[in-house]
Amino acid sequence: MATAGQAPMVNPNPTPMQPALLDDETVRAQPAAPAFDPNAEGGATGLESLEIGAGRIRVDDKRIINCHADLNQLVPFKYDWAWQKYLDACANHWMPQEINMNADIALWKDPNGLTDDERTIIKRNLGFFSTADSLVANNLVLAVYRHITNPECRQYLLRQAFEEALHTHAYQYVVESLGLDEGEIFNMYREVPSVARKAEWALPYTQYLADPHFHTGTQENDQKLLREMVAFYIIFEGIFFYVGFVQVLSMGRRNKMTGTAEQFQYILRDESMHMNFGIDVINQIKIENPHLWTESFKQELITMIRDAVQLEAEYAHETMPRGVLGLNAPMFEEYLQFIANRRCAQIGLPEQYPGASNPFPWMSEVLDLKKEKNFFETRVTEYQTGGALSWD
Ligand SMILES: [Fe+2]
Ligand SMILES: [Fe+2]
Repeated sequence: MATAGQAPMVNPNPTPMQPALLDDETVRAQPAAPAFDPNAEGGATGLESLEIGAGRIRVDDKRIINCHADLNQLVPFKYDWAWQKYLDACANHWMPQEINMNADIALWKDPNGLTDDERTIIKRNLGFFSTADSLVANNLVLAVYRHITNPECRQYLLRQAFEEALHTHAYQYVVESLGLDEGEIFNMYREVPSVARKAEWALPYTQYLADPHFHTGTQENDQKLLREMVAFYIIFEGIFFYVGFVQVLSMGRRNKMTGTAEQFQYILRDESMHMNFGIDVINQIKIENPHLWTESFKQELITMIRDAVQLEAEYAHETMPRGVLGLNAPMFEEYLQFIANRRCAQIGLPEQYPGASNPFPWMSEVLDLKKEKNFFETRVTEYQTGGALSWD
């Protein structure tokens, strides 16, 4: 089979001419390069030199990790769930500035509009989320993406990365609308311990995947990838976001800070899909690599999840020490145990908190996309996606 470049390494000095434009004689004169070695460490990146004349992609060639099939060819699909999530995410498109913030601005500026505890909830959660979503985005594009060797999953990851940018935009938009001190909010994760601790917990779990010298392809390294995916998708996005979501959405349910709550509602809808995508990816990696899911590895993940529940319960205590909006910290402990049980079950781990029930059943309704109000009915500005372009 003729090859036109060295694979699978990225060529730092690409030839100035397109190989496809060379005549046959010139192509034959090019130095021969090895074809992809299926036993090489890691998988393809999508940036390898072209392998002229290589066979077409077969569905059976595709794998979530350590795959050497060409990553620039989206089809044929193997993982329909990944493509469907990409389509669903695009169908849920929204923009922060399309949500009316006028009622929030009036309430925030009214000295009697909110209690100090309610203001603390808003500011702490803006403080946590404003940097947390950037951290997730950076982890996604600089750490996770490179190691996911499947184009339909990457298509969703690109959409997710944009949504994380939208979420950071939403927090910035709320901060600007309310006239908050942006330095106080965006630097909060370096100033307020309860906010700092969650980011500090997560950051070591980018350590391997973000290392440019790290490659999957061994049991140890593939477990590192799974561990870091559990840390971000199941714990950071799946547990650490939920006290804040309940707190801010509770304010909206009491007709306070309804614009901010609406921003959080759309973010929660996105985040729920991010987590479900992560669950599907983790489970598919398990199916394709059952040797990774050892008893000791499962025990390690359980310990991570239990530690995270404890940390998030402390966040609940510290953001609402007195109880507010009919909520109190013990209710959050129960809720965290309830969602941790679900997260464990979703990735095939035993439930850790027998009998934990959901003190906030309305959160399930918010998450149920079918019951949610139609976003388009509430839009305050003209929305262009899907609109016809005029060529006049
Ligand atoms: Fe996000
Ligand atoms: Fe997310």
